[in-house]
Amino acid sequence: MAHTVTITDNRTGESIEVPIVNEGVDAQEWAKLLPGVWFFDPSFSTTAAAASSITELDGEAGILRYRGYPIEQLAEESTYLEVAYLLVNGDLPDADQFDEWQHEITYHTFIHENVRKRFMEGFHHDAHPMGILVSTIAALSTFYPEAKDIFDRSARHKQVIRLIAKMPTIAAGAHRHSVGMPFVYPDNNLDFCSNFLSMMWKVAEPNYEPNPVLSHALDVLFILHADHEQNCSTTAMRVVGSAHADPYSCTAAAAAALYGPRHGGANEAVIRMLTQIGTIDNVDPFIADVKAGKGRLQGFGHRVYKNYDPRAKIVKQVADEVFSVTGKNPLLDIALKLEEVALSDEYFTSRKLYPNVDFYSGLIYQAMGFPIELFPVLFAIPRTSGWLAHWTELLDRDARIARPRQLYDGSQARDYVPLDER
Ligand code: CMC
Repeated sequence: MAHTVTITDNRTGESIEVPIVNEGVDAQEWAKLLPGVWFFDPSFSTTAAAASSITELDGEAGILRYRGYPIEQLAEESTYLEVAYLLVNGDLPDADQFDEWQHEITYHTFIHENVRKRFMEGFHHDAHPMGILVSTIAALSTFYPEAKDIFDRSARHKQVIRLIAKMPTIAAGAHRHSVGMPFVYPDNNLDFCSNFLSMMWKVAEPNYEPNPVLSHALDVLFILHADHEQNCSTTAMRVVGSAHADPYSCTAAAAAALYGPRHGGANEAVIRMLTQIGTIDNVDPFIADVKAGKGRLQGFGHRVYKNYDPRAKIVKQVADEVFSVTGKNPLLDIALKLEEVALSDEYFTSRKLYPNVDFYSGLIYQAMGFPIELFPVLFAIPRTSGWLAHWTELLDRDARIARPRQLYDGSQARDYVPLDER
C-alpha cells in the first residue's frame, strides 16, 4: 500500500503525491510540494510541534509510558526522583547514578536567602501561591547568570538539578508566606516528598516525621504528573526554550501556562465545583446545566485521551490509601456520583469525555490538608522534571525557533486619521 495521499490542485489541475511519514505529513515536504498553502491550526490539534522520545501517549487506547516504561509500573515500583532521572536522562539510573542524583538534588534544595527575603516575602500576604511560584522561578535566573550558557553541559546539568530540587522549597515557602507561618528550611535527612511535607507542616517539633502513607501517596501523584508529552505548559517551555532563553525563564513560562484552569488549575476547579454542587441531590441538575452549555464538568475530558485517563485509575487507588489515614473527603461521594451519572450519559460518552487525572487528585490533596490554591503548585513541582527533559531534548536536537504563521483577518489597508478628525 502506497504511503501517500494524492491531492489535485483545482486551480491548476495538477495532481501531487504527498508522502505520509509516521502517520503524518512533514511540513517541510509539504511546503516544497504546495508552496504558499498552509494549515490553520491554532490549537495544534492536528499539528505535531515536536518529535520527542520522552513520553508516549496513546489517547485512544489509554496508554501512557515514560521512556517506554508503563505509567502503572512506575507508579507501583519507582519513586518520583528516579522517574525524574529517567525523564531527563533517558534511562533508569543504576545504584551509583541514583545515589549521586539523590545527593545532588538533596543538597540543592536550599534557596538563596535573598530569594526568600526580597522576593517571596515581598508579596502581599494573600498572594496566590502559584503567582509567587511563577515569579520566584523567573527571579532565580538573576541569581544564576551562568544559566544562560545553555550549551555548556555542566552548567545545564546544574540548573536542571537546582530547578528540580528548589521547587518544593519555593512551593512550601509560598504557602507558609500566605498563612503567615515562618519559612521552614529543607531537612537533608528526609526523602524528596517527606522533606516537602516537613517544609509545609512543621511547627515547633525538632524533627517533623510525615506519615509514610501520605508521603508515599504524594510520591505516586508526583510520578503521575511528571510528564505528559506536548501539553500546554510543555509547549510553552519548548516555545520559549526554542528562543534559547535560560531554563529558569522557560520554566517560569511553563508554570504560567500551568496556572490556567484549563490545564493545571483543573483540580482546583474540581473542588470548587464539588463544593458548589454541595449534595448528591444536586448532581442531576448540575449535569443538566453542563449539557445545556452552562459550564463544564471539571476534571472531565482531555484533548488527547478519548478513553479513561490511565492516571485517573491510579489516582483513585491512591485516594483509598490516603482516606484510610485522613478519613474520607466528604466531597468524594459527590464525585463518585458525578462520574457514574456522566459515564452513563450519551452527552459525555458520545464526546468521549472521561475523568482525567485532576478529577480525583484534588480530593486527595484536600484530605491531606493542602489548601486548594496550592493544587497547581503541587502539579508544578513534579512537572518541572518533564519540562526540563523537553527543554534538554529540544537543545540536543538543535530545534529551530518556534514561529508559527498567522491567518490575518483584520481590516484592509487604511489611512491614518488624526485624533481630532475621528
Ligand atoms: N464538560 C462538558 N463538556 C465538555 C467538557 C467538559 N469537561 N470537555 C469537553 N466538552 C465538550 C465540549 O463542549 C465540546 O462539545 P461540542 O462538540 O458539542 O461543542 C466537545 O466536548 C469537545 O470539547 P473541546 O473543548 O473541543 O475539547 P478540547 O480538546 O479543546 O478540550 C479540555 C480539552 C481538557 C480543555 C476540556 O475537556 C475541558 O475544558 N475539560 C475540563 C477542564 C479539565 O478537566 N482540564 C484538565 C485537563 S487534564 C490535565 C492536564 O493534562 O492538563
